Amino acid sequence: MKIAVAGKGGVGKTTLTVWLGDYLAGQQKDVWLVDADTALSLGPALGLGEEDLPAPLVQQQQLIQERVGSGGFINMNPKVDDLLGGLSREVRGMHLLLMGTVAGAGSGCGCAPNTLLKATLAHLLVWRAQRVLVDLEAGVEHLGRGTISSVDGLVVVSEPSIRGLQTASRISSMAKDLGLQQQALVLNRAAEGFQPPQDMHLPPLAARIPYLQSLEERQQHSSSVLDLPEQNRINELCESVLTRFDS
Ligand SMILES: Nc1ncnc2c1ncn2[C@@H]1O[C@H](COP(=O)(O)OP(=O)(O)OP(=O)(O)O)[C@@H](O)[C@H]1O
Ligand SMILES: [Mg+2]
Repeated sequence: MKIAVAGKGGVGKTTLTVWLGDYLAGQQKDVWLVDADTALSLGPALGLGEEDLPAPLVQQQQLIQERVGSGGFINMNPKVDDLLGGLSREVRGMHLLLMGTVAGAGSGCGCAPNTLLKATLAHLLVWRAQRVLVDLEAGVEHLGRGTISSVDGLVVVSEPSIRGLQTASRISSMAKDLGLQQQALVLNRAAEGFQPPQDMHLPPLAARIPYLQSLEERQQHSSSVLDLPEQNRINELCESVLTRFDS
């Protein structure tokens, strides 16, 4: 199971990604969390400080090219195992990998290696891991073929605002165009009776995240989103989301 989490900025993508990972790790699954957002917020949401974060993958291009090759040839030999191990950081039974920022992206010099790197990563993860959760950059721009082809499911998170839902709808139809049919919508901080408009062609609603005062208070002094008093409720909504996808 390889799931990407997408949506408009600030809707709760990173929070949900961490909750889903923690839930699966609690079931003794082999969980890989991939931070594909250049803001690198997965680590902090897991409670890690700056100094505890693994080196972002884009800073390791030479190593990756040495070990897995480049161009048309990708070497899938067992050394890949320690490559991933060395570049990830274990936290609460999960493995955290950071994609990182490409210096000079947009100027033309950093994009090709990054594309290669993402493709390589996708191969490695498909081959290696049982449960992969990818926290995507906000919006639709990041939703390229490279990211989408590496996952088999998409969770779209939205708040009950027209702009959030429009972004969710665009992400959903773009992902469908790229062949990603398994999708689920998660509504965050919506009033209980709120129903998203049917004509927006959103993915089927899988779960609702209630507003959590405990989380808001927590974030005032800690970036971790884990170990909240509402753990049972969080487990239930994670279960509702994950049952939408093939294991
Ligand atoms: N249901 C909720 N109740 C209270 N606070 C919440 C809830 N969901 C998210 N938050 C808070 O809202 C903020 C944004 O959440 P989060 O970082 O998960 O969103 P995001 O979609 O990943 O944002 P970005 O687009 O910046 O990556 C965080 O401080 C988070 O703790
Ligand atoms: Mg985020």
